[in-house]
Amino acid sequence: MRIGVDYYPEQWSEKRWKTDLELMNKANIKVVRIGEFSWSLYEPQEGEFDFAWMDKILDTLRKYNISAVLCTPSATPPKWMVDKYPQILQEDVYGRQKLSGTRKHYCFNSSVYRDKCHMLNSKIAERYGKNPVIEGWQIDNELGWANTTRCYCDECQDKFRKWLIHKFKTISNLNKKYGTLTWSQVYNSFDEVMIPKAGTCYETDNETQGQNPGLLLDYYRFCSDSVCSFTQEACEDIRKYSAFPITTNMLDASINSGTGIDYFKLAKSLDFTSWDNYIEFQWGVAEDSAVSRDHALVRGYKKQPFWVMEQQAGPCGWSKMGPTPTPGKLRLWTYSAVANGADTVVYFRWRSALSGLEEYWHGVLNHDGLPGRRYEEISKTGEEFEKLSLHLGKLMPKAEVAIIKSFDSEWSQSIHSHVEGFNYDKYELSFYRALYKLGIPADFVRADQNLSKYKFVIAPALVMAQNSELDSLASYARNGGCLLLTFRSGIKDENNSMLPQTAPGVFSEMAGVTINDYDPLMGKETDVSGVFGKSIAHIWCDIINTTSANSIGVYTSDFYFGKPCMTENKYGDGRVFYMGCDIEDDSMVTLIKYFDKMLNLNGLPYEIKGVESVETSDGKSQVRFIMNHNEYPVVVPIYRRMNDMLTKMPVDSCISIEPYGVAVLKE
Ligand code: GAL
Repeated sequence: MRIGVDYYPEQWSEKRWKTDLELMNKANIKVVRIGEFSWSLYEPQEGEFDFAWMDKILDTLRKYNISAVLCTPSATPPKWMVDKYPQILQEDVYGRQKLSGTRKHYCFNSSVYRDKCHMLNSKIAERYGKNPVIEGWQIDNELGWANTTRCYCDECQDKFRKWLIHKFKTISNLNKKYGTLTWSQVYNSFDEVMIPKAGTCYETDNETQGQNPGLLLDYYRFCSDSVCSFTQEACEDIRKYSAFPITTNMLDASINSGTGIDYFKLAKSLDFTSWDNYIEFQWGVAEDSAVSRDHALVRGYKKQPFWVMEQQAGPCGWSKMGPTPTPGKLRLWTYSAVANGADTVVYFRWRSALSGLEEYWHGVLNHDGLPGRRYEEISKTGEEFEKLSLHLGKLMPKAEVAIIKSFDSEWSQSIHSHVEGFNYDKYELSFYRALYKLGIPADFVRADQNLSKYKFVIAPALVMAQNSELDSLASYARNGGCLLLTFRSGIKDENNSMLPQTAPGVFSEMAGVTINDYDPLMGKETDVSGVFGKSIAHIWCDIINTTSANSIGVYTSDFYFGKPCMTENKYGDGRVFYMGCDIEDDSMVTLIKYFDKMLNLNGLPYEIKGVESVETSDGKSQVRFIMNHNEYPVVVPIYRRMNDMLTKMPVDSCISIEPYGVAVLKE
């Protein structure tokens, strides 16, 4: 475990570099990420290349024994390029071109832009591919950020049609799969298919997304595939000259839900995953369970330790700032990342910029470049990591629970949300949050992977399941697994069309239930009671008929009073549970306790608000990280004798942790 910073030496005079790097050495900063926005330095005019500035930076880093993650600079095409080749610009859903002046103003499918990237990426890789200062590569920066995954330009339309030809082969097949007889949408050729722009298909109210749901879902898949192939091309350019591992910095789940990249697919091109973690800033404050969930997702895309490539380092925002991290929080957030599987945590940014849009976005150092409170805190963290690393290798939480993450289901739900207040990402988080509160780590996985190592698999709102996913879930349960399915599962086919089977469609037999009637609540509340205690459903109620399942929860109000809301079914050697309604957060915790008792998930006996507890291992040693996200001290029961690796003190039965404090316990 170690720390790094995002560094922009090109924005400061060379005279300053020495001070920066000495300070970094003192703080145990081992790695810097550089160069992600520097196209106009590499190629100030078309075809005129300059690498001297980067040579100098890498040379200086070498003297200070700091390694670098070097980026491909494609996130910011330079102004001359945009002026000369305006066709590279992304078009939004209204057909408006994104202009330069900000970032990510390009289309992933632009062949001109891809050629330009190929040329510069190859030159950079050729020049630096074996440079020992470099230890890794970052492709672009935050792919898909600010709604840039989905472009609506003519080139995208053309490529989308080709993508459809590849998928459907004949237009009559497409017509059949999309059900275009509805509303006279029948196409005579692929050339007639329009990219789903606003105006061509949106209803007066955008929210309803009036276009054919099959076309929309395929368009989302096509856009995600376009980002993946753009990334794949950049990786190939680099791998031709370099063996250093490649990543790209991903976005948190709530942003990616909107921008839409299938990160499981994207991760296939990468050697390791990383993401950007901003917790308290202009646009809100992330709850600690959501941050932990994001770590778990990024860990899950490759099932290996990951990096935080940008970790908040100060007060931040563009036009307005969020609060400065209270003393202890930078260290706490860094430990939380490591506990959840991060191997390197890189702070954004080293020194706060004097100019540009992000002049309020504070780094480790303020604008004056002087080391202050935040510098001291990250130095202390760096020093602790140095010591801990003598005893611990790369850590991964020991997860016995898996949550299925399906981008298809998420996008389908984002196209037609089923009912007011329902959101795939938030619903998934509600399960993770309950596990988190009880200190039970969970992995996010694809449904079609081998699930046999998990004691418990939760599949929230798996709206659609392909055959391979269905087979995998069925074989997991049949062979003794414990599977929890929920309302709005198994009801659609892969073209986003409803299935003719009674809900929960493809899962009906496994769950031993049929749903002939359901109630989208839209603001109404229904009382429920069951193994999760007493609760209230706010979103959805499936009125369950049991075929072979037993009821373990019932509705206690409304016209379906007394009918099952939750069931358990024996399936082969395992069990399939079905939750027909949503329940409140506290009841979710009770529900997880119910499963913990049944499956021995090693959860805490009770929740301590704001305390994050993660059991993790490097393959040899097992350690428990306990992190206090509260502004007050807490006492946490331990139940066995352990040692705190930070204080080197023995801990018996319980440990007291200061506000925003951390303990790393080992037996
Ligand atoms: C990230 C981005 C950085 C910087 C930071 C602060 O999203 O990757 O380049 O902009 O946010 O806004």
